[in-house]
Amino acid sequence: TTLPLPANEIVRAYAPGSTERARLKAALTTMSGNRASLPSIIGGKAITTGNLETAVMPHLHAHVLADAHLAGAADVKAAIDAAKRAAHDWSQTGWEARARIFLKAADLVAGPWRYRLNAATMLGQSKTVHQAEIDSAAEFADFLRFNAHFMTRLYAEQPISAPREWNRVDYRPLEGFVYAVTPFNFTAIAANLPCAPAMMGVPVVWKPSPNAKLSAHYIMAVLQEAGLPDGVINLVYGDAEMVTRIVLDDSGLAGIHFTGSTGVFDHLRREIAAGSYRNMPRLVGETGGKNFTLAHASADVDALAIGVIRGGYEYQGQKCSATSRLYCPRSLWPTLRDRLVDEIAQIRVGDVRDFSCFMGAVIDRRAWSRHAEAIARARRDSSHTVLTQGEPDDCEGYFTPPTLIETQDQNSPLMREELFGPIITAFVYEDARFDEILGDIDQTSEYALTGAIFAQDSAVLEHAQAKLRYAAGNLYLNDKSTGAVVGQQPFGGARASGTNDKAGSLWNLTRWVSPRTIKENF
Ligand code: ALA
Repeated sequence: TTLPLPANEIVRAYAPGSTERARLKAALTTMSGNRASLPSIIGGKAITTGNLETAVMPHLHAHVLADAHLAGAADVKAAIDAAKRAAHDWSQTGWEARARIFLKAADLVAGPWRYRLNAATMLGQSKTVHQAEIDSAAEFADFLRFNAHFMTRLYAEQPISAPREWNRVDYRPLEGFVYAVTPFNFTAIAANLPCAPAMMGVPVVWKPSPNAKLSAHYIMAVLQEAGLPDGVINLVYGDAEMVTRIVLDDSGLAGIHFTGSTGVFDHLRREIAAGSYRNMPRLVGETGGKNFTLAHASADVDALAIGVIRGGYEYQGQKCSATSRLYCPRSLWPTLRDRLVDEIAQIRVGDVRDFSCFMGAVIDRRAWSRHAEAIARARRDSSHTVLTQGEPDDCEGYFTPPTLIETQDQNSPLMREELFGPIITAFVYEDARFDEILGDIDQTSEYALTGAIFAQDSAVLEHAQAKLRYAAGNLYLNDKSTGAVVGQQPFGGARASGTNDKAGSLWNLTRWVSPRTIKENF
């Protein structure tokens, strides 16, 4: 039996006067007003250590939202032990029982917990209402529902049998535990990385981003309410290096499910290569990006302008899929440039509790400084022109303004380095050089996560997608580079962007099983 293909959770509008808006506002008020205490959850128990680290609102950084209890070395060991203890029963729990828990969690996410999850993501990660809704409500529920469906499709995949024999594959959960290391930028990804291996029967030690502590707490609360047995997912707040060191030193480590920077993933990969384990750990990572938008002279400028603005500036350019380099033909540039500069000047940036904001703050001071430094560098350098007006300002919140830079240097670091912020660098090419530009983009794509091509000429689209075959794991034709939907656009990239095991897909789930083939004669 396979579970039926689910439908995507519908994204809600939170229109003025609606009940859902009132409920979300109430959750925002409560959560802003109560400084929460966030324990690590180990073996189902709340562990308060008294070693506290605050969580603040990026758009009002003096405001402390919560205090997380950081785990010590003994707590991390206890989390590993709890995962190992849980493995005994959990790895033998039938898929129906596992699916039931995660499907119940999906209904809680889409139902009563929706407002708290959205509020935590808005306040703790500075997402606007729409960006929070597509993430912590819709995508979170989608990951759970689609993975349950894909799990049953995977199990249904069985070998053929000759006469008088019966061949079968037993999709054993990996032996050991998985380490999930999750990012701040998507609550849904923070939830999916521990949930996908757990759904496949493998217990998890989960270290969330220090910049998404509040939403991690709510993710865990939903899973506990849905009936996840103790120890199957262990949430550990704590110093990344210390937690990672202890996890990597344990021979029971069976895999890593990671989203974050290329540098950190590379480090984990090397450490594992030098380690000693009962099984060779599976490495599944989604890392950085320097995603391109390429316009052809035949592009529809309206669609292109919207794609650039939304792809580059929604969630302050902090989606791994965000557009950060733009290639525009000389013939379109004056129109596109003026259009973008006009639109950018009208973007409202501020406290996301004001629902009319299109952008909030960037995540922390480190990110803000990186952006401010890059913009200053562009202003100093004669081969770059900053076309937009806003100035970075971190007095009350970490505000990086939406910024558009024109460069004369196609190989400028601004066209290659991941800045993870609302900064787009544009290079204008001569129309006749379109074919060369395709080669240049491929050459300079050290990362290969997402890309977008705008052209109305279908032969051009065909040619460009062939030439850029390895430059992106998610390629969008006449659409922005962001916004992959679970079940619709399986997401992930190769080269320095990761192992391309497509989050929320059947292929990802294969990474958490160790199939055993059984042949029986009769
Ligand atoms: N699902 C996210 C996007 O595609 C990562 O923008």
